[in-house]
Amino acid sequence: MAGKVYLETFGCQMNELDSELVTGQLRALGYRFTPDAHQADVVLYNTCSVREHAEQKVWSRLGELAIRKATDPGLVVGVLGCMAEREGGALMKRMPVVDLMVGPAELDKLPALLDNALRTRASLLADGRVLGEAGEGGVRRLTSAGQVALAGSSSRRSSTLAAAGDQLEMLDLSRAVSPDDHSGSAYVRITRGCNKFCTYCVVPHTRGAEVHRPPEHIIDECKRLADAGVVEVTLLGQTVNHYRFEHGAQVSVGGVVQPQKGRVYKRTDEHTDAYAGQNVTTFAGLLRRIHEEVPGILRLRFVTSYPRSFGNDVLEVIRASPRVCRYLHVPAQSGSDRLLSMMNRGYSVGEYLEFLDRARAFLHEPELGRPLTVAGDIIVGFPSETEADHEATKALLLRTRYKNCFIFKYSSRPGTVAHEKLADDVPEDVKRRRNGELLEVQNLVSAEVSAEYLGREVTAFVQGVSRREQKKTKRAESLAKAVAVNGAGIGAVALTISASGRGDVRARAAEVAGDGADACSVHGAHTEADAGVSAGPVQMSARTDGDLIVLFDAHAGDAAGMIGQIVRVRIESTTALALHGAMAGQG
Ligand code: SAH
Ligand code: SF4
Ligand code: F3S
Repeated sequence: MAGKVYLETFGCQMNELDSELVTGQLRALGYRFTPDAHQADVVLYNTCSVREHAEQKVWSRLGELAIRKATDPGLVVGVLGCMAEREGGALMKRMPVVDLMVGPAELDKLPALLDNALRTRASLLADGRVLGEAGEGGVRRLTSAGQVALAGSSSRRSSTLAAAGDQLEMLDLSRAVSPDDHSGSAYVRITRGCNKFCTYCVVPHTRGAEVHRPPEHIIDECKRLADAGVVEVTLLGQTVNHYRFEHGAQVSVGGVVQPQKGRVYKRTDEHTDAYAGQNVTTFAGLLRRIHEEVPGILRLRFVTSYPRSFGNDVLEVIRASPRVCRYLHVPAQSGSDRLLSMMNRGYSVGEYLEFLDRARAFLHEPELGRPLTVAGDIIVGFPSETEADHEATKALLLRTRYKNCFIFKYSSRPGTVAHEKLADDVPEDVKRRRNGELLEVQNLVSAEVSAEYLGREVTAFVQGVSRREQKKTKRAESLAKAVAVNGAGIGAVALTISASGRGDVRARAAEVAGDGADACSVHGAHTEADAGVSAGPVQMSARTDGDLIVLFDAHAGDAAGMIGQIVRVRIESTTALALHGAMAGQG
C-alpha cells in the first residue's frame, strides 16, 4: 500500500544519509515523494536530539500536524531518528498525532511499519474502529490507536550483533545508486554509533555502540557511487580516525560480513599507527585503499575527526594522496583544560594544539596550492564555565585558526552524565553574550584565512545556485504568479532550468549558507526543477577541497550542467564567509 511521502531531515550528515537510504528503500516499494507536506499522505521527520532547539523544531511541526489531522484523519505521521530513540513512548503519549516511531538502529523496518500504519489507517477510516494488529515481532504497542514505536534497541546493541546479523548493514548495502539521482557528491558511512561518552552528548545513547563497517563494503559502495558519476565522497563517522577492522576476527552471517564492535581505547600518546596490527584495516589503510581502488572519486573527505589518537599514518596517507582533501573537521569543544576534563574529552588544550601543529607540519603547503584547512566545534556555557574559561576558549580560537567554527550554546540533554550530575548554571544571557564574543573572534580569523586566497586560483566543486540566487528566483516566481493572477500577460518570468535528478542540490545549498548542524532539508524534491535560475548571469555556489565556500557567476545556460562538476575559479575578493571570483575553466 503506497502513498505520497514528505520526508524532512534535521540534524547531522548521518541523518542526511539515513534519509537518503530510507528514500531509496521506499521508492523501490512504489512510494512517491513530494516536497510539499500538504500534498503528502505520509509525513516523516528524521529527527535530531543533540540540542533542545533541534527537538523543539520537531515538536512545533508535530503540533501543526495535529491540527491538520483533525480534518485529515488519513494522514500518517512518523518520527524517525535520534528523537524517536531518545523520547520513545513518551513522545507518542504527548503527541498522539504520531503513528509510528523508528530509532536510527531500526530504520530497515520502516517499510513494514509504514505499510502497517497505512493499512491500519485505511481500516480505521473504513469502519470508524480504533484498532490495529501488532506488526513485526518485537514491536512495542503503546496505545490502542495503532501506534507503534521501535526504539531502544540501538543502545549498546552490538553484543548480540554478530549473532543476529546486522540489518542496518543490509540497509547500507541495499543503497540504490543511479546516475540520474545524485548531486555529484555523496556520503558513505564507515562507522556507526559512538563509544566516547562525552558527558554532554546524546549520540552514544541514540546511535548506540560504535561499530565499524567492513572495508570491502565501504569500498564497493564508493565504486558503485563513482560508476554512477559521483565525484565527491565524504566518509562519515563520529570519530572516523578510530576506524579499525580486524580481518582475523571477521564474522559472516548469511554470507554477509558483519560490522565489528569498536574498541574502547585508553588515553595514551599515540602519534603513530596505534590502531594498526596484523591483518587489520586502520583508517589510514581504508583511506589509502579507497584512494587507490576508486580513482573516479576526485575528492575524498571525512568527518568527524577526534583530536585524540590521530596517527601520523593517516597524515602520511593524506599527504601522499592527491585526491584526499586536506581538510579536517576536528572539534576542540573548549579552550579550558578544566572543562575538557569535565566533558570527558580525554585531551588537554596543549595536546589538541600539538595535534593541529603536527597536522599542519604534514599537510599545510599553501605555496604548492595545497593548504590544510581546519574546522572546529565549540560548546559555550558548559556547566560552571567561568570568564577565565571563556577567555581561554577565545585564545584557543586565535591559535587554531579554523576556517570556520560551529559555536553551540550548551544544551542540557536528559540521560547524559552532565544533565544528571552538573547544574546548567551559566545563565542564558551569559551564554548568548559569550557566544557572540566567540563568533566575533572566529569571524576575524575566518576573514584572515579567506584573505590568504586572494589572487589565487582554486578548484571548486559546484553544489548549486547560491542562496542569494535562490532568493532572487523565489521573488521572481512570486512576481510571475502575481502577474499571472492579475492577467497582465507579460512581466517578470523566472526561467527554470531543470537539472534532472539533482534533488539534493537545494538541500546542500542551504547547508552552504551555513545553517550548521541544526539545519534541516527536504528530501524527495527530485520531481521538481532543482536549479531555478533567472536569465542573465547566475551566482553559483561551490566548495574548495578545503571546504571553503566559493561564489562565482555563470551563464544561465551553463548553470545546470555545472552542478556536480569541478571548476577552476580565480579569487577576486574575500569575506569571512566566502571567496568570490570568476570562473577560469573546468577542473
Ligand atoms: N562526534 C563529533 C561530534 C558530534 S555532535 C565529535 O566528537 O567531534 C556535533 C557537535 O554538537 C559536537 O561537536 C558539539 O560541539 C555539539 N554538541 C553535542 N552535544 C551538545 C550539547 N548537549 N549542547 C551543545 N552542543 C552540543
Ligand atoms: Fe558525542 Fe563525544 Fe561521541 Fe562526538 S565523540 S558523538 S561529542 S560522545
Ligand atoms: Fe546526528 Fe543529531 Fe543524532 S547530530 S547523531 S541526528 S542527535
